[in-house]
Amino acid sequence: MKLLIPVASGVEASVKRQLNSLGYGDCPAVNGRISLDGDFSDVARLNVFLRSAERVLIELGAFPAATFDELYDAARSLPWEEYLSAHSLIRMDGKSFKSKLGAVKASGGVVKKAIVECLKEKLGVRSLDEKGERAIVGVSVYNDVASFTLDTSGEGLHKRGYRTLTLEAPLKETVAAAMVESSVYHAGKPFADLFCGSGTLPIEAALYALNIAPNARRPFDFTSWKCVPDVLPRVREEAEDLRDRVTKLELFASDISEHAVSVARYHAGRAGVEKHIRFVCADMREFSSAERYGVLLSNPPYGERLKEDDLFALYRDFGKVYRALPDWSCYFLSGFEGAERAFGGRAEKRRKLYNANIPCGLYGYLGAKPPKNK
Ligand SMILES: C[S@@+](CC[C@H](N)C(=O)[O-])C[C@H]1O[C@@H](n2cnc3c(N)ncnc32)[C@H](O)[C@@H]1O
Repeated sequence: MKLLIPVASGVEASVKRQLNSLGYGDCPAVNGRISLDGDFSDVARLNVFLRSAERVLIELGAFPAATFDELYDAARSLPWEEYLSAHSLIRMDGKSFKSKLGAVKASGGVVKKAIVECLKEKLGVRSLDEKGERAIVGVSVYNDVASFTLDTSGEGLHKRGYRTLTLEAPLKETVAAAMVESSVYHAGKPFADLFCGSGTLPIEAALYALNIAPNARRPFDFTSWKCVPDVLPRVREEAEDLRDRVTKLELFASDISEHAVSVARYHAGRAGVEKHIRFVCADMREFSSAERYGVLLSNPPYGERLKEDDLFALYRDFGKVYRALPDWSCYFLSGFEGAERAFGGRAEKRRKLYNANIPCGLYGYLGAKPPKNK
């Protein structure tokens, strides 16, 4: 099968590295989707292990389509009956870019009609009741070529299952994982998030450092489809075998809000990493450490609630806290345009990322490297 992995802008390199470490080699990316060949075991592995991918899709086919008739004929020619049943709850998801078929909703309607006709004929039924398993069908039209996909993940892969309580401006888990993965953090290094909010960054850092698969416990849509072998239990076993049960981490996470700290602690418990993170309610200005070569990884506030002057002062003080730490590196994600200037200097690493559709910068300041261990 041809598998497609949509990735958010700015995290493609992280997902490619994650694919490499899972043994999938160099996979090409087109239009924000990384593609590779695989079977249902790969579908299960990618869903369970990838930290920063949005979803895992199966591409059933791609055809030139500039009119609704061409779109219908293309969709009608695909073997939907191999995956869907007379009870499938078919949900449509669409995109269009530089194409004559710009009306996404109407295109979805045309494709759904083709799928229904296909299923009625191939399954020999008069109607579909849509009371059963969910199947999200994607229709993406780029430059007048329509790609038809089935979404194996269901809920987006950022939904690990541990974050059940809501706080303002949480960081997407997949973006947090990309931040951790592209930083110099690894198990054994001091780590601190001084604006931890609901706990996403320290939790993702702990999952990464302990080699815990981020999505080992959650459900996926593909397991309820027709003709799909029972591959998930084996992959969950693989995830269990690979997790590091020996290392004890000492991550530090703090926030000025007591409520945020209690929410973060609760989420860490749900993720199974609570004993690896020390949560403290404190203003970030109080942080100091005598440990060397640590990593500050944070997502400070940047919304409309703080005035420009207050934001500037916050980032300025954050920069002072960082510069008092011996040989630490610091990475922070922010949508505040003056962040770098206020923090006190140009970042050595800079990347554009999106969090909840807000354009943000990921700024990296690198500390000295520890001496090589003989
Ligand atoms: C953008 S949110 C962090 C979201 C977090 N990454 C998450 O995933 O939930 C920013 C956080 O900074 C906290 N904060 C604001 N000013 C602070 C300060 N001076 N010291 C420590 N935390 C502060 C807020 O309470 C808020 O939880």
